[in-house]
Amino acid sequence: MNRASLHVETLRWEGGLPGRCTLIEQTLLPLEERWLAVESVPAMHDAIRRLAVRGAPAIGVAAGYGVVLGVQQLRDRSGDEVLRAALEAADHLATSRPTAVNLFWALDRMRARARREHGARRDGNGIVAALHEEALAIHAEDRAMCAEMGRIGAGLVEDGMGILTHCNAGALATGGMGTALAPIYTALAQGKRVKVWADETRPLLQGARLTVYELMKAGIEVVLITDNMAASLMRTGVVDLVFVGSDRIARNGDVCNKIGTYSVALAAREHGVPFYAVAPTSTFDPGCARGEDIHIEERGAEEVCEGFGKRTAPTGAHVWNPAFDWTPARLVSGIICEQGLVRKPDRARVEAALRSAGRI
Ligand code: MRU
Repeated sequence: MNRASLHVETLRWEGGLPGRCTLIEQTLLPLEERWLAVESVPAMHDAIRRLAVRGAPAIGVAAGYGVVLGVQQLRDRSGDEVLRAALEAADHLATSRPTAVNLFWALDRMRARARREHGARRDGNGIVAALHEEALAIHAEDRAMCAEMGRIGAGLVEDGMGILTHCNAGALATGGMGTALAPIYTALAQGKRVKVWADETRPLLQGARLTVYELMKAGIEVVLITDNMAASLMRTGVVDLVFVGSDRIARNGDVCNKIGTYSVALAAREHGVPFYAVAPTSTFDPGCARGEDIHIEERGAEEVCEGFGKRTAPTGAHVWNPAFDWTPARLVSGIICEQGLVRKPDRARVEAALRSAGRI
């Protein structure tokens, strides 16, 4: 059996038109596997905002389906009305979370498709059908990009390696087999044995709850550590590679990802461990020159001092809770995208990848 097919599924479109998006409710994992039916634009906005669906590529796929939810009841209406509803849905979904650029990339694609079909004088029914097709295509392309990154990244993985990852950049974060975890699934399918070290990833524990969950389900050896153990672990010499995902890659190669990634990159540099970001070109932002320019989401204090319901700091404690950080390109050994391995990323190399993906 192809073991790479063992990865979990995160979201799907069900029922043609009209239909609905169903997704695994990630806030309940790993204790409960419950599928959530999302049937409206506000429900999709809410699912993205509260991290029921999360991870940059999965957010993009979900947003595409969200636009379809906003127009599918208007199939008997005029093309003008459907276009207006599609643009309104896209504008609203764009306010759900600020950092993962895949959200804006997918919504731009949906807007462009709606405008193109409207410009070609298609009626409401035709525009809705085209938007459904576009959302399914975004999902299918994400699945294919994950598989390609897995193939390219697996080339860096040798039998018996120890690999450290941060947050969850696996199947649960994408429409396919994941980004940072894709080379691991692929290496396993190629018969290589790997041991994964998963940072728990404070404050919302995506590493502990999601990465450990999906790797255990796939039968991959995984050891959970708290975030503050990563540097000491690297000093023992058991980590051969770091693979992380990304929420936005700036044009100069700076990599934005879950808070704590920067510390992992600093520790990796100190200990001579290669540090790779694995991300499709839908995560590259040609409009963003440098890491400093990325809008970093700040979330509520309760995530830090009342994690999962239990108070862990005095009432009234001041809290800073950025959800992401950015790692300067000089600390990044390479970016694995579906176009290939961008070694020692800089502006020229990132632009070459963007060019081969037809993005610039
Ligand atoms: O806040 P989250 O859980 O959406 O953050 C997710 C991450 O930071 C992932 O590492 C990133 O989106 C890459 S996912 C393939």
